[in-house]
Amino acid sequence: MNLYYFSGTGNSIAIVRELQKHLKDAELSPIVRHLGDDEVRDDSKVIGLVAPTYYMDIPDIVRNFTKKLSIKKNAFVFAVIHYGVTPGRAFHSLNELLLEKGAKLNAGFGITLPDNSIALKTPIRKQPEMHALMSKTLEDISSMVLKKRSIPLPGSSSQLLGVNGKIGSFVLRKIFGTERKRTTSDCTHCGICERVCPMNNITVYDDDVSFGDNCADCFACIHWCPEKAIRYGILKVNSKSHYTNPAVCAADMMAQK
Ligand SMILES: Cc1cc2nc3c(=O)[nH]c(=O)nc-3n(C[C@H](O)[C@H](O)[C@H](O)COP(=O)(O)O)c2cc1C
Ligand code: SF4
Ligand code: SF4
Repeated sequence: MNLYYFSGTGNSIAIVRELQKHLKDAELSPIVRHLGDDEVRDDSKVIGLVAPTYYMDIPDIVRNFTKKLSIKKNAFVFAVIHYGVTPGRAFHSLNELLLEKGAKLNAGFGITLPDNSIALKTPIRKQPEMHALMSKTLEDISSMVLKKRSIPLPGSSSQLLGVNGKIGSFVLRKIFGTERKRTTSDCTHCGICERVCPMNNITVYDDDVSFGDNCADCFACIHWCPEKAIRYGILKVNSKSHYTNPAVCAADMMAQK
């Protein structure tokens, strides 16, 4: 069984690790390691996808990966999608991509976790409870996966949500200016942002940090920067909006690549 995952601030990493404890033969496969592949062939009987929700949908990097996935038509495919508030149409987008291959998303499991989008903050006092519930939920999810139980997909299949997500992404990029990433004078040029960036989109020089155009919007650089020295347009992380999963460290993020 292969578990494919993508993470910016560690929630997906914490999830796949817990799943692996219960699903003994599960192999972890970071999606970023398949960026250069034209096709990802997987003949497993059970396949899992673990990803955050971005803009009420799956992240583009997960969409592009799923398009390249070549699987058996009768494979049991499940997804664990997590989010701060709502998965929107994430499960249904995944299912539509799989249907195009003659397969389908047999089971969808949604988990609410702290929101890393900076614009929406999850109060710090609520976070330990969310992480504890996540562990319990993953135990239940694992037992359903082992039984290959079909589970109706959470969220909505409305195309309107996809449109809303695109508007949300446009607002963040153009109005909040998240495309305009830059560092503040607090930057020590330590290089951590360059090493955690899953897209290799950052270069740290002795006196400068340069951001390219190949961004997955994962917010990893902004949250893993030890000095909170990265701005995305008007967004800047502070002690209330900062989030990284407590069971995951920057080295785990770097190991995703
Ligand atoms: C660019 C961006 C967009 C997001 N959009 C949504 C959203 O539409 N709905 C939601 O509930 N959470 C949204 N989130 C929150 C993440 O889905 C959530 O915090 C997730 O658990 C982070 O996973 P990770 O730690 O593996 O990166 C968004 C986060 C980012 C960075
Ligand atoms: S992680 Fe932060 S302090 Fe380190 S180089 Fe990047 S922006 Fe600068
Ligand atoms: S530049 Fe930042 S937000 Fe973009 S992919 Fe790299 S780490 Fe993620």
